This record gives sequence, C-alpha cells and structure tokens, in this order.
Amino acid sequence: MNWHDNKRVLVGVSGGIAAYKSPALVRRLLQRGCEVRVMMSRAAAEFITPLTLQAVSGHPVHQHLLDAEAESGMGHIELARWAEHIVIAPATADFIARLAQGRADDLLTAVTLASDAEVAVAPAMNRLMWQNPATQRNLESLKQRGIRIIGPGSGEQACGESGDGRMSEPEDIATALAGEGHPRLLDGLSALITAGPTWEALDPVRGITNHSSGKMGYAMARAARDFGAQVTLVSGPVNRNTPREVRRIDVVSAQQMLDAVAEHAPDADLFIAVAAVADYRPAAAAEHKMKKKSERMKVELIRNPDILASVAAMKRAPFTVGFAAETENAVANARQKLKAKGADVMAANQVADDDNVFGNDENSVTLIDKDGEAVLAKTDKYRLAVQIIEHIAPLLAQRRQATAG
Ligand code: PMT
Repeated sequence: MNWHDNKRVLVGVSGGIAAYKSPALVRRLLQRGCEVRVMMSRAAAEFITPLTLQAVSGHPVHQHLLDAEAESGMGHIELARWAEHIVIAPATADFIARLAQGRADDLLTAVTLASDAEVAVAPAMNRLMWQNPATQRNLESLKQRGIRIIGPGSGEQACGESGDGRMSEPEDIATALAGEGHPRLLDGLSALITAGPTWEALDPVRGITNHSSGKMGYAMARAARDFGAQVTLVSGPVNRNTPREVRRIDVVSAQQMLDAVAEHAPDADLFIAVAAVADYRPAAAAEHKMKKKSERMKVELIRNPDILASVAAMKRAPFTVGFAAETENAVANARQKLKAKGADVMAANQVADDDNVFGNDENSVTLIDKDGEAVLAKTDKYRLAVQIIEHIAPLLAQRRQATAG
C-alpha cells in the first residue's frame, strides 16, 4: 500500500499568484490515491475560480467561515475533523503571519487551528517578503508547533524579480507530504515504542500516575515511521490521536505495558521506552471505592517490573533506547540508569520547575551511550525525535552488522 492511498488531504489555497498551481496539486494528490477536499480564501478566488478547483477535485470548494448551508453539511469543524493532512498551497506571507498568531477569523486559519491533522504550508511570495525577519520569525514559530514548511523554491518570480519565494512544484509538494523528505534509515525495521504514563489503581476510581502527556512518545512514533520503520506504539492512558500507519496498543498499568511489550519485543529491531512507568503499584487494589476512616492511611506499595531492563536482557534483544527525566544531575543519573538497565542509549531530560518536560511541546536531551554524550538542543518534540533517530540509526546499523557477522 502506498502512503497516499485513501489519505484525507485538505488543500487550502490562500491568495497569491501561485494559486494557479493549486489545481495541479489537487490532481497530483488524487492521482496518487488521496481523497481531496479544497478550501480557499476570499483573496484566492481573485486568482483562480472555485469552479476550477471544484472540477478538479470533484467536490464543492469551501469558501466561507460562516456558511449556513455548509454548517448543516460539512462546516469548518467537520472539515477540520475530516482532514488527516492539511496543506496550504500557496501560503502567502499574510496567511503565514496570521497562522503564526493563532488567528481564526477566516476559513483557512479557523480550520487549521481547529484540526489535529498534520499541517504543512508551501510558502509563495516575493523574495524580499520571504527574507523579511518578520516572515522568518513567523515560520520559526510554525515549525516550533510542528507545522512543516515545504519549499519554497528559487527562481524567476511573478513580480519580475528573481530569488527565493517561488512555491514548490505540485509534484514535489505531493511527495514531501508523505514524509519522503527523511532518509529511509529504518526501512524494513520494526520499532516498538512506549509512551505516556501508567495508572496503578488504588481502587476503582483512584490511582497513582504522573504528568506524562504522551507527546514525546507519540513524536518518537511519528519520527520512526517517517524514517521508514513499522511502528507499534504501546500507550498508557493519554488523550491523543494515533499517528497514521502506527499500530497502537492501549494499556493502563505497568504490568499491562510489560505484557504488551513482551509480546511484541521479539519481533522488534528497535525498542524506545519513552513511557513514564510507575516504579511502584499498590500491593492490592481495593475492590470497592475506599471510604474515609481515619486521619492517616497507609498504602503498601510493591515494585513494578522494569520493562526496559527486561527487554535489554532478552537473548536477542532489540537495540534499546531509554529516557530518563531527572530533577537533578540529569546526565550522571541517566548514565547510571543506562548501566543499571543495560540499555544501548539513554536520553536524559531535565525536569525544572520553570521548564517542565512533562506535557511541554518542547524538549532537549543529552544522549548517552557507552562511548560518550551528544547534546540535542531544545526544540519541538517531533524535531527532537527526528534528531534522536538520526543519532541512533547508525548505532543500530552497526549493532545489526556485528550480530549478523
Ligand atoms: O509524555 P510527555 O509529557 O511528552 O513527557 C515526556 C517524558 C518526560 C515522559 C519523557 O521524555 C521521559 O523522560 N520518559 C521517561 C520518564 C522517566 O523518568 O523514566 P524513569 O527514569 O523512571 O525510567 C527510565 C527508563 O526506564 C524509561 O525509559 C522508562 O520508560 C523505563 N522504565 C522505568 C520504570 C519501569 N518500571 N519500566 C521501564 O521500562
């Protein structure tokens, strides 16, 4: 099955001369097997008619934020929910600025803001607008939020000048959407990833857990997929969308996480333990909701199994990567965990009062292995995950060569 098959892609057209290329993009996406819908801004309709895009896509084009007819059918929220991918092509400097500000005062910005689809923009503008620090700052802010920037290309522009700012060619945008921008460093390999917290029940309504949101683990799953791996994600209780093409197994407790991991680890080439697993669980969960009786209550806790250590100890263990969130001496403590758990790499992240990695959109890590350390600067969790894969892929390849030889 190819990446584009049945992908629900929403193409947004903002008002620039490059809008004349948008029908070609719609056609390329359809030819590759995507389902495509189109929305366009008022200004875009000055450059290209909605009818052209309707004819090419085979569906009415969405044009208005408040549209009584559309609200009864596919209004902006339905459109936002429908899309797995949103690509704004062309994305003008003005659209990029408004998206960066989080505005929602027209259809394109409102849908993009209201969607959890993966978003990409293909900028198209005059070279000086592109170079302007204001535009560059806005683009940086989009990148921080995990929005992909496709292009722009360089060359002769509609305004007669020449330089950066031409919208990428429709074929290239269609290709880039599939994440083919990353080298297929994990092609043919299978990655098993844990994410989120675990929940250790005290009684049917209470439990011990932590603040892990799953953002880092889900970002690792997306990145591993984008580098070509088949990904199985064992997820603790979090409210997140499953990344496309990722097999997700939901678990609640550490024991359930261990069971799921034990079942799939023998087939994995790479195991990445991002989950914040509770080290202890109540010795016995009460069958019924516990009642208040005295001022103090003692709960006996027992150690949970160590999932990462158990995978690393397997006879034919996959390449193992752990994460360590530390409030002090992050690198030294993580190095100690690397040894104690027998992992190949440990990613140390610092937990600070004013900058807590739990729940944050961004993170920075120091990657530690037996030979040294590499510091990866703070960035959004997907980009960090990409850098982690780029760092570990050669180590994994070396290990596979050594064990094959
Ligand atoms: O989910 P987010 O909000 O994005 O936050 C991300 C994160 C902070 C949860 C993540 O970046 C992170 O650091 N995860 C590990 C948290 C941690 O401190 O784990 P630990 O030090 O208790 O364990 C070290 C390693 O052993 C981890 O890889 C953990 O998954 C693993 N472990 C721990 C205990 C256990 N019983 N089994 C395990 O496999």
